[in-house]
Amino acid sequence: MSAKNKLKASLAVTAAASLIAVTGCSANQPAGSSTDGGSDKLEITSWWTSGSEADALNVLIEGVKATSPGLSVDNAAVSGGGGANARQALAARLQAGSPPDSWQLHPAGQLKSYVDGGQVADLTELWTQNDWASKLPKDVAEAQQVDGKYYTVPIGVHRGNVLWTNPAVLAKANVEINPTGSVDELISSLKQIQASGTTPVCLGDKDIFASAELLESIIMSRTGADNWKKLFTNEYSFDAPEVKQALEDYKTILSLSNKDHSAITWDEAVKKMADGACGVSLMGDWAYGELVNAQKTPGTDFAWVTFPGNEDIFDYVGDGFSIPAKNIPHAEAANAWLKTLMDPKIQTDFAAKKGSIPAVTNADISSLSEYQQEAAKSFASAKVVSSLAHGQVTTAEFAQTFADAVSTFNGSTNIDAFIASMTTAQKTQL
Ligand code: GAL
Repeated sequence: MSAKNKLKASLAVTAAASLIAVTGCSANQPAGSSTDGGSDKLEITSWWTSGSEADALNVLIEGVKATSPGLSVDNAAVSGGGGANARQALAARLQAGSPPDSWQLHPAGQLKSYVDGGQVADLTELWTQNDWASKLPKDVAEAQQVDGKYYTVPIGVHRGNVLWTNPAVLAKANVEINPTGSVDELISSLKQIQASGTTPVCLGDKDIFASAELLESIIMSRTGADNWKKLFTNEYSFDAPEVKQALEDYKTILSLSNKDHSAITWDEAVKKMADGACGVSLMGDWAYGELVNAQKTPGTDFAWVTFPGNEDIFDYVGDGFSIPAKNIPHAEAANAWLKTLMDPKIQTDFAAKKGSIPAVTNADISSLSEYQQEAAKSFASAKVVSSLAHGQVTTAEFAQTFADAVSTFNGSTNIDAFIASMTTAQKTQL
Protein backbone atom coordinates (compact mmCIF):
# COMPACT_ATOMS: atom_id res chain seq x y z
CA MET A 1 0.00 0.00 0.00
CA SER A 2 1.35 3.45 -0.85
CA ALA A 3 1.84 5.97 1.95
CA LYS A 4 -1.10 7.96 0.57
CA ASN A 5 -3.38 4.93 0.54
CA LYS A 6 -2.25 3.90 4.01
CA LEU A 7 -3.20 7.32 5.27
CA LYS A 8 -6.56 7.12 3.50
CA ALA A 9 -7.23 3.67 4.97
CA SER A 10 -6.28 4.71 8.48
CA LEU A 11 -8.46 7.83 8.25
CA ALA A 12 -11.34 5.69 7.09
CA VAL A 13 -10.85 3.29 9.99
CA THR A 14 -10.76 6.21 12.42
CA ALA A 15 -13.90 7.66 10.85
CA ALA A 16 -15.70 4.35 11.22
CA ALA A 17 -14.55 4.02 14.82
CA SER A 18 -15.90 7.47 15.65
CA LEU A 19 -19.16 6.70 13.88
CA ILE A 20 -19.56 3.69 16.12
CA ALA A 21 -18.65 5.80 19.15
CA VAL A 22 -21.14 8.52 18.20
CA THR A 23 -24.04 6.22 17.44
CA GLY A 24 -23.16 4.01 20.36
CA CYS A 25 -23.93 0.95 18.24
CA SER A 26 -20.63 -0.79 18.75
CA ALA A 27 -22.38 -3.49 20.76
CA ASN A 28 -23.92 -4.92 17.63
CA GLN A 29 -21.11 -4.02 15.31
CA PRO A 30 -18.90 -6.71 13.87
CA ALA A 31 -15.29 -6.35 14.92
CA GLY A 32 -14.00 -5.65 11.38
CA SER A 33 -12.78 -2.08 10.98
CA SER A 34 -14.89 -0.25 8.42
CA THR A 35 -13.98 2.09 5.62
CA ASP A 36 -17.34 3.87 5.66
CA GLY A 37 -19.69 1.93 7.92
CA GLY A 38 -22.36 2.28 5.22
CA SER A 39 -25.53 0.25 5.26
CA ASP A 40 -26.83 0.78 1.74
CA LYS A 41 -24.61 -1.74 -0.03
CA LEU A 42 -23.29 -5.21 0.64
CA GLU A 43 -20.91 -7.28 -1.43
CA ILE A 44 -20.69 -11.01 -0.78
CA THR A 45 -18.61 -13.68 -2.44
CA SER A 46 -19.25 -17.42 -2.67
CA TRP A 47 -19.00 -20.24 -5.17
CA TRP A 48 -22.71 -20.77 -5.41
CA THR A 49 -23.49 -20.52 -9.09
CA SER A 50 -25.24 -23.79 -10.07
CA GLY A 51 -29.05 -23.65 -10.41
CA SER A 52 -29.80 -24.78 -6.85
CA GLU A 53 -26.86 -22.95 -5.30
CA ALA A 54 -27.87 -19.65 -6.90
CA ASP A 55 -31.50 -20.09 -5.79
CA ALA A 56 -30.43 -20.90 -2.24
CA LEU A 57 -28.08 -17.91 -2.12
CA ASN A 58 -30.95 -15.77 -3.30
CA VAL A 59 -32.96 -16.77 -0.22
CA LEU A 60 -30.19 -15.22 1.88
CA ILE A 61 -29.94 -12.10 -0.28
CA GLU A 62 -33.70 -11.51 -0.19
CA GLY A 63 -33.60 -12.22 3.55
CA VAL A 64 -31.08 -9.52 4.33
CA LYS A 65 -32.82 -7.06 2.01
CA ALA A 66 -36.05 -7.62 3.94
CA THR A 67 -34.34 -6.58 7.18
CA SER A 68 -32.51 -3.62 5.60
CA PRO A 69 -34.81 -1.61 3.33
CA GLY A 70 -32.96 0.06 0.45
CA LEU A 71 -29.99 -2.29 0.66
CA SER A 72 -28.43 -3.23 -2.65
CA VAL A 73 -26.59 -6.53 -2.65
CA ASP A 74 -23.76 -7.26 -5.04
CA ASN A 75 -23.61 -11.03 -5.51
CA ALA A 76 -19.98 -11.54 -6.55
CA ALA A 77 -20.08 -15.34 -6.74
CA VAL A 78 -17.24 -17.01 -8.65
CA SER A 79 -18.15 -20.25 -10.42
CA GLY A 80 -16.41 -23.56 -9.81
CA GLY A 81 -17.92 -26.20 -7.52
CA GLY A 82 -16.12 -26.71 -4.23
CA GLY A 83 -14.82 -23.14 -4.36
CA ALA A 84 -11.17 -23.39 -5.43
CA ASN A 85 -11.65 -20.57 -7.98
CA ALA A 86 -13.60 -18.40 -5.56
CA ARG A 87 -10.97 -18.80 -2.85
CA GLN A 88 -8.22 -17.87 -5.29
CA ALA A 89 -10.07 -14.72 -6.34
CA LEU A 90 -10.71 -13.88 -2.69
CA ALA A 91 -7.04 -14.36 -1.78
CA ALA A 92 -6.07 -11.80 -4.43
CA ARG A 93 -8.56 -9.29 -3.05
CA LEU A 94 -7.43 -9.84 0.53
CA GLN A 95 -3.85 -9.40 -0.58
CA ALA A 96 -4.76 -6.15 -2.33
CA GLY A 97 -6.62 -4.88 0.76
CA SER A 98 -10.00 -4.71 -1.00
CA PRO A 99 -12.09 -7.50 0.50
CA PRO A 100 -15.81 -8.04 -0.05
CA ASP A 101 -18.05 -7.40 2.96
CA SER A 102 -18.47 -11.12 3.57
CA TRP A 103 -17.33 -14.38 2.02
CA GLN A 104 -18.32 -18.03 2.05
CA LEU A 105 -16.00 -20.51 3.71
CA HIS A 106 -15.87 -23.84 5.49
CA PRO A 107 -15.44 -23.88 9.26
CA ALA A 108 -12.60 -25.46 11.30
CA GLY A 109 -9.47 -26.05 9.16
CA GLN A 110 -10.27 -23.64 6.35
CA LEU A 111 -11.41 -20.98 8.79
CA LYS A 112 -8.22 -21.40 10.81
CA SER A 113 -6.10 -20.52 7.80
CA TYR A 114 -7.92 -17.16 7.48
CA VAL A 115 -7.60 -16.59 11.23
CA ASP A 116 -3.87 -17.39 11.17
CA GLY A 117 -3.51 -14.94 8.29
CA GLY A 118 -5.25 -12.22 10.37
CA GLN A 119 -7.87 -11.92 7.61
CA VAL A 120 -11.18 -12.55 9.41
CA ALA A 121 -12.84 -10.45 12.10
CA ASP A 122 -13.43 -11.80 15.60
CA LEU A 123 -17.21 -12.20 15.93
CA THR A 124 -17.24 -13.39 19.55
CA GLU A 125 -19.13 -10.34 20.80
CA LEU A 126 -21.85 -10.78 18.20
CA TRP A 127 -22.11 -14.48 19.09
CA THR A 128 -22.37 -13.74 22.80
CA GLN A 129 -24.95 -10.98 22.42
CA ASN A 130 -27.18 -13.21 20.33
CA ASP A 131 -26.50 -16.35 22.35
CA TRP A 132 -25.87 -18.28 19.14
CA ALA A 133 -23.85 -21.08 20.74
CA SER A 134 -26.97 -22.26 22.61
CA LYS A 135 -28.81 -22.57 19.27
CA LEU A 136 -26.32 -24.94 17.67
CA PRO A 137 -25.15 -28.50 18.21
CA LYS A 138 -21.93 -28.36 20.24
CA ASP A 139 -19.75 -29.67 17.39
CA VAL A 140 -21.12 -27.13 14.95
CA ALA A 141 -20.56 -24.24 17.37
CA GLU A 142 -17.02 -25.43 18.05
CA ALA A 143 -16.20 -25.65 14.36
CA GLN A 144 -16.89 -21.90 14.06
CA GLN A 145 -14.19 -21.13 16.65
CA VAL A 146 -10.44 -20.90 16.67
CA ASP A 147 -8.77 -20.79 20.09
CA GLY A 148 -12.09 -20.14 21.82
CA LYS A 149 -13.13 -17.17 19.66
CA TYR A 150 -15.84 -17.17 16.99
CA TYR A 151 -14.89 -16.02 13.51
CA THR A 152 -17.68 -17.27 11.29
CA VAL A 153 -21.43 -17.87 11.16
CA PRO A 154 -22.89 -21.20 9.94
CA ILE A 155 -25.73 -21.30 7.41
CA GLY A 156 -26.10 -25.04 6.95
CA VAL A 157 -24.78 -28.56 7.26
CA HIS A 158 -24.12 -30.77 4.26
CA ARG A 159 -23.22 -34.45 4.15
CA GLY A 160 -20.38 -35.32 1.78
CA ASN A 161 -20.57 -39.12 1.62
CA VAL A 162 -23.82 -39.82 -0.22
CA LEU A 163 -24.12 -42.21 -3.14
CA TRP A 164 -26.91 -41.08 -5.45
CA THR A 165 -28.44 -43.88 -7.47
CA ASN A 166 -30.66 -44.34 -10.50
CA PRO A 167 -33.40 -46.82 -9.50
CA ALA A 168 -34.18 -47.91 -13.08
CA VAL A 169 -30.53 -48.59 -13.93
CA LEU A 170 -30.06 -50.55 -10.72
CA ALA A 171 -33.24 -52.55 -11.32
CA LYS A 172 -32.19 -53.39 -14.87
CA ALA A 173 -28.87 -54.73 -13.53
CA ASN A 174 -30.69 -56.48 -10.68
CA VAL A 175 -28.57 -54.62 -8.17
CA GLU A 176 -29.33 -53.30 -4.71
CA ILE A 177 -26.75 -51.19 -2.95
CA ASN A 178 -26.54 -51.84 0.75
CA PRO A 179 -25.22 -48.89 2.77
CA THR A 180 -23.91 -51.22 5.46
CA GLY A 181 -22.22 -53.47 2.91
CA SER A 182 -18.50 -53.30 2.20
CA VAL A 183 -16.71 -51.39 -0.53
CA ASP A 184 -16.03 -54.81 -2.11
CA GLU A 185 -19.78 -55.40 -2.38
CA LEU A 186 -20.21 -51.97 -3.91
CA ILE A 187 -17.57 -52.73 -6.53
CA SER A 188 -19.22 -56.02 -7.46
CA SER A 189 -22.54 -54.18 -7.85
CA LEU A 190 -20.83 -51.65 -10.10
CA LYS A 191 -19.41 -54.46 -12.24
CA GLN A 192 -22.89 -55.93 -12.48
CA ILE A 193 -24.19 -52.58 -13.76
CA GLN A 194 -21.41 -52.57 -16.33
CA ALA A 195 -22.38 -56.10 -17.42
CA SER A 196 -25.96 -54.88 -17.93
CA GLY A 197 -24.67 -52.41 -20.51
CA THR A 198 -24.65 -49.12 -18.55
CA THR A 199 -21.69 -47.06 -17.36
CA PRO A 200 -21.60 -47.78 -13.61
CA VAL A 201 -20.43 -44.40 -12.25
CA CYS A 202 -21.02 -40.77 -13.23
CA LEU A 203 -18.19 -38.52 -12.09
CA GLY A 204 -17.70 -34.83 -12.88
CA ASP A 205 -14.32 -33.74 -11.61
CA LYS A 206 -13.62 -30.75 -13.80
CA ASP A 207 -13.27 -29.23 -10.33
CA ILE A 208 -11.05 -31.70 -8.51
CA PHE A 209 -13.03 -31.68 -5.26
CA ALA A 210 -15.45 -34.19 -6.84
CA SER A 211 -12.95 -37.00 -7.18
CA ALA A 212 -11.22 -35.96 -3.93
CA GLU A 213 -14.59 -36.43 -2.23
CA LEU A 214 -15.09 -39.85 -3.83
CA LEU A 215 -11.66 -40.99 -2.65
CA GLU A 216 -12.32 -39.54 0.81
CA SER A 217 -15.57 -41.52 1.10
CA ILE A 218 -13.77 -44.72 0.15
CA ILE A 219 -10.96 -44.05 2.63
CA MET A 220 -13.45 -43.41 5.44
CA SER A 221 -15.28 -46.62 4.67
CA ARG A 222 -12.03 -48.59 4.74
CA THR A 223 -10.46 -46.95 7.81
CA GLY A 224 -13.56 -46.20 9.90
CA ALA A 225 -14.37 -42.85 11.46
CA ASP A 226 -11.84 -42.99 14.30
CA ASN A 227 -8.85 -43.70 12.10
CA TRP A 228 -10.02 -41.08 9.61
CA LYS A 229 -9.73 -38.49 12.39
CA LYS A 230 -6.31 -39.82 13.38
CA LEU A 231 -4.97 -39.20 9.87
CA PHE A 232 -5.01 -35.50 10.76
CA THR A 233 -3.35 -35.78 14.14
CA ASN A 234 -0.64 -37.99 12.68
CA GLU A 235 -1.66 -40.94 14.86
CA TYR A 236 -2.53 -43.04 11.80
CA SER A 237 -0.64 -43.06 8.53
CA PHE A 238 -1.68 -42.59 4.93
CA ASP A 239 0.62 -45.58 4.48
CA ALA A 240 -1.79 -47.87 6.42
CA PRO A 241 -3.01 -50.98 4.56
CA GLU A 242 -6.62 -49.73 4.71
CA VAL A 243 -5.68 -46.50 2.91
CA LYS A 244 -3.73 -48.46 0.28
CA GLN A 245 -6.77 -50.68 -0.20
CA ALA A 246 -8.93 -47.56 -0.58
CA LEU A 247 -6.63 -46.35 -3.36
CA GLU A 248 -6.94 -49.71 -5.12
CA ASP A 249 -10.73 -49.38 -4.82
CA TYR A 250 -10.64 -45.81 -6.07
CA LYS A 251 -8.56 -46.87 -9.08
CA THR A 252 -11.15 -49.54 -9.88
CA ILE A 253 -14.06 -47.13 -9.43
CA LEU A 254 -12.35 -44.56 -11.68
CA SER A 255 -12.05 -47.23 -14.37
CA LEU A 256 -15.81 -47.84 -14.03
CA SER A 257 -16.62 -44.13 -14.48
CA ASN A 258 -17.56 -42.07 -17.55
CA LYS A 259 -14.45 -41.42 -19.62
CA ASP A 260 -15.13 -37.67 -19.93
CA HIS A 261 -15.18 -37.15 -16.15
CA SER A 262 -12.52 -34.44 -16.12
CA ALA A 263 -14.49 -32.43 -18.70
CA ILE A 264 -17.79 -32.21 -16.79
CA THR A 265 -18.87 -30.55 -13.54
CA TRP A 266 -20.38 -32.13 -10.42
CA ASP A 267 -23.86 -30.92 -11.27
CA GLU A 268 -23.65 -32.23 -14.83
CA ALA A 269 -22.56 -35.61 -13.46
CA VAL A 270 -25.44 -36.01 -11.02
CA LYS A 271 -27.96 -34.96 -13.67
CA LYS A 272 -26.50 -37.51 -16.08
CA MET A 273 -27.00 -40.15 -13.39
CA ALA A 274 -30.65 -39.13 -12.91
CA ASP A 275 -31.10 -39.24 -16.70
CA GLY A 276 -29.95 -42.87 -16.70
CA ALA A 277 -26.47 -42.43 -18.20
CA CYS A 278 -25.04 -44.42 -15.29
CA GLY A 279 -26.02 -46.22 -12.12
CA VAL A 280 -24.50 -44.16 -9.31
CA SER A 281 -22.75 -40.90 -8.50
CA LEU A 282 -20.98 -39.96 -5.27
CA MET A 283 -21.59 -36.36 -4.28
CA GLY A 284 -22.36 -34.25 -1.26
CA ASP A 285 -26.03 -33.65 -0.63
CA TRP A 286 -26.00 -30.33 -2.47
CA ALA A 287 -26.74 -32.86 -5.27
CA TYR A 288 -30.20 -33.28 -3.72
CA GLY A 289 -30.90 -29.57 -4.16
CA GLU A 290 -29.53 -29.61 -7.68
CA LEU A 291 -31.57 -32.63 -8.79
CA VAL A 292 -34.80 -31.20 -7.39
CA ASN A 293 -33.95 -27.88 -9.03
CA ALA A 294 -33.62 -29.79 -12.33
CA GLN A 295 -37.17 -31.17 -11.85
CA LYS A 296 -35.98 -34.67 -10.99
CA THR A 297 -38.26 -36.62 -8.66
CA PRO A 298 -36.74 -38.12 -5.52
CA GLY A 299 -37.42 -41.85 -5.24
CA THR A 300 -38.26 -42.12 -8.95
CA ASP A 301 -35.56 -40.39 -10.98
CA PHE A 302 -33.01 -40.84 -8.24
CA ALA A 303 -32.50 -42.39 -4.81
CA TRP A 304 -29.66 -42.41 -2.30
CA VAL A 305 -27.65 -44.45 0.18
CA THR A 306 -24.88 -43.44 2.53
CA PHE A 307 -21.62 -44.40 0.86
CA PRO A 308 -21.27 -48.12 1.75
CA GLY A 309 -19.18 -49.05 4.74
CA ASN A 310 -19.81 -50.86 7.99
CA GLU A 311 -20.37 -47.77 10.12
CA ASP A 312 -22.82 -44.91 9.78
CA ILE A 313 -20.39 -42.06 9.05
CA PHE A 314 -21.58 -38.51 8.40
CA ASP A 315 -18.96 -36.59 6.44
CA TYR A 316 -19.69 -33.05 7.61
CA VAL A 317 -19.24 -30.21 5.11
CA GLY A 318 -20.25 -26.93 6.73
CA ASP A 319 -21.04 -23.68 4.96
CA GLY A 320 -20.81 -20.28 6.54
CA PHE A 321 -19.73 -16.69 6.10
CA SER A 322 -17.09 -14.48 7.68
CA ILE A 323 -16.26 -10.81 7.37
CA PRO A 324 -12.86 -9.19 6.91
CA ALA A 325 -10.69 -8.11 9.81
CA LYS A 326 -9.59 -5.00 7.92
CA ASN A 327 -11.04 -2.63 5.33
CA ILE A 328 -14.63 -3.86 5.47
CA PRO A 329 -16.53 -1.59 3.08
CA HIS A 330 -20.00 -1.78 4.69
CA ALA A 331 -19.83 -2.91 8.29
CA GLU A 332 -23.47 -2.25 9.22
CA ALA A 333 -24.80 -4.16 6.24
CA ALA A 334 -22.39 -7.00 6.97
CA ASN A 335 -23.73 -7.13 10.50
CA ALA A 336 -27.30 -7.40 9.20
CA TRP A 337 -26.14 -10.14 6.82
CA LEU A 338 -24.60 -12.25 9.58
CA LYS A 339 -27.74 -11.94 11.69
CA THR A 340 -29.92 -12.91 8.73
CA LEU A 341 -27.89 -16.09 8.30
CA MET A 342 -28.74 -17.21 11.83
CA ASP A 343 -32.48 -16.68 11.43
CA PRO A 344 -34.02 -20.18 11.78
CA LYS A 345 -36.68 -19.52 9.10
CA ILE A 346 -33.99 -18.33 6.66
CA GLN A 347 -31.93 -21.44 7.40
CA THR A 348 -34.92 -23.69 6.63
CA ASP A 349 -35.81 -21.82 3.43
CA PHE A 350 -32.16 -21.95 2.35
CA ALA A 351 -31.95 -25.70 3.09
CA ALA A 352 -35.09 -26.33 1.02
CA LYS A 353 -33.25 -25.10 -2.08
CA LYS A 354 -29.77 -26.31 -1.17
CA GLY A 355 -30.29 -29.90 0.04
CA SER A 356 -28.53 -29.16 3.34
CA ILE A 357 -30.01 -29.18 6.83
CA PRO A 358 -30.14 -26.04 8.98
CA ALA A 359 -27.21 -25.58 11.34
CA VAL A 360 -29.40 -24.11 14.10
CA THR A 361 -31.42 -26.51 16.23
CA ASN A 362 -34.37 -24.12 16.61
CA ALA A 363 -35.29 -24.33 12.90
CA ASP A 364 -38.53 -26.08 11.97
CA ILE A 365 -37.50 -28.76 9.49
CA SER A 366 -40.86 -30.51 9.19
CA SER A 367 -41.36 -29.04 5.70
CA LEU A 368 -38.03 -30.38 4.41
CA SER A 369 -37.77 -33.50 2.26
CA GLU A 370 -37.57 -37.12 3.34
CA TYR A 371 -33.90 -37.10 2.38
CA GLN A 372 -33.23 -34.11 4.64
CA GLN A 373 -35.20 -35.61 7.54
CA GLU A 374 -32.94 -38.66 7.29
CA ALA A 375 -29.83 -36.49 7.08
CA ALA A 376 -30.89 -34.54 10.19
CA LYS A 377 -31.41 -37.78 12.13
CA SER A 378 -28.13 -39.16 10.97
CA PHE A 379 -26.24 -35.97 11.84
CA ALA A 380 -27.51 -36.38 15.39
CA SER A 381 -26.71 -40.09 15.68
CA ALA A 382 -23.95 -41.08 13.21
CA LYS A 383 -20.20 -40.80 13.67
CA VAL A 384 -19.62 -37.25 12.46
CA VAL A 385 -16.26 -36.58 10.81
CA SER A 386 -15.09 -33.58 8.80
CA SER A 387 -14.18 -33.44 5.14
CA LEU A 388 -10.66 -33.22 3.77
CA ALA A 389 -11.78 -32.67 0.18
CA HIS A 390 -13.46 -29.49 1.46
CA GLY A 391 -10.58 -28.42 3.67
CA GLN A 392 -12.54 -28.67 6.89
CA VAL A 393 -10.73 -31.35 8.85
CA THR A 394 -7.26 -29.81 8.67
CA THR A 395 -5.18 -26.93 7.36
CA ALA A 396 -5.72 -25.39 3.93
CA GLU A 397 -2.17 -26.38 3.03
CA PHE A 398 -2.74 -30.07 3.76
CA ALA A 399 -6.07 -30.01 1.94
CA GLN A 400 -4.32 -28.50 -1.09
CA THR A 401 -1.71 -31.27 -1.00
CA PHE A 402 -4.53 -33.82 -1.04
CA ALA A 403 -6.27 -32.09 -3.97
CA ASP A 404 -3.00 -31.99 -5.92
CA ALA A 405 -2.22 -35.62 -5.10
CA VAL A 406 -5.69 -36.68 -6.30
CA SER A 407 -5.22 -34.73 -9.56
CA THR A 408 -1.89 -36.40 -10.17
CA PHE A 409 -3.26 -39.82 -9.24
CA ASN A 410 -6.16 -39.45 -11.68
CA GLY A 411 -3.59 -39.31 -14.46
CA SER A 412 -0.89 -41.67 -13.18
CA THR A 413 -2.87 -44.07 -10.93
CA ASN A 414 0.40 -44.43 -9.03
CA ILE A 415 -0.55 -45.50 -5.50
CA ASP A 416 2.98 -45.33 -4.07
CA ALA A 417 3.47 -41.78 -5.31
CA PHE A 418 0.14 -40.72 -3.80
CA ILE A 419 0.99 -42.26 -0.44
CA ALA A 420 4.49 -40.73 -0.48
CA SER A 421 3.06 -37.21 -0.99
CA MET A 422 0.51 -37.67 1.76
CA THR A 423 2.86 -39.19 4.33
CA THR A 424 5.37 -36.39 3.70
CA ALA A 425 2.56 -33.86 4.17
CA GLN A 426 1.55 -35.59 7.41
CA LYS A 427 5.06 -34.98 8.73
CA THR A 428 5.49 -31.44 7.48
CA GLN A 429 2.06 -29.83 7.22
CA LEU A 430 0.07 -31.00 10.25
C1 GAL B 1 -19.08 -27.23 -1.22
C2 GAL B 1 -20.12 -26.44 -0.48
C3 GAL B 1 -21.49 -26.78 -0.93
C4 GAL B 1 -21.62 -26.91 -2.43
C5 GAL B 1 -20.43 -27.59 -3.08
C6 GAL B 1 -20.39 -27.56 -4.59
O1 GAL B 1 -17.82 -26.77 -0.89
O2 GAL B 1 -20.04 -26.73 0.88
O3 GAL B 1 -22.39 -25.83 -0.41
O4 GAL B 1 -21.88 -25.69 -2.94
O5 GAL B 1 -19.23 -27.08 -2.61
O6 GAL B 1 -20.15 -26.29 -5.11
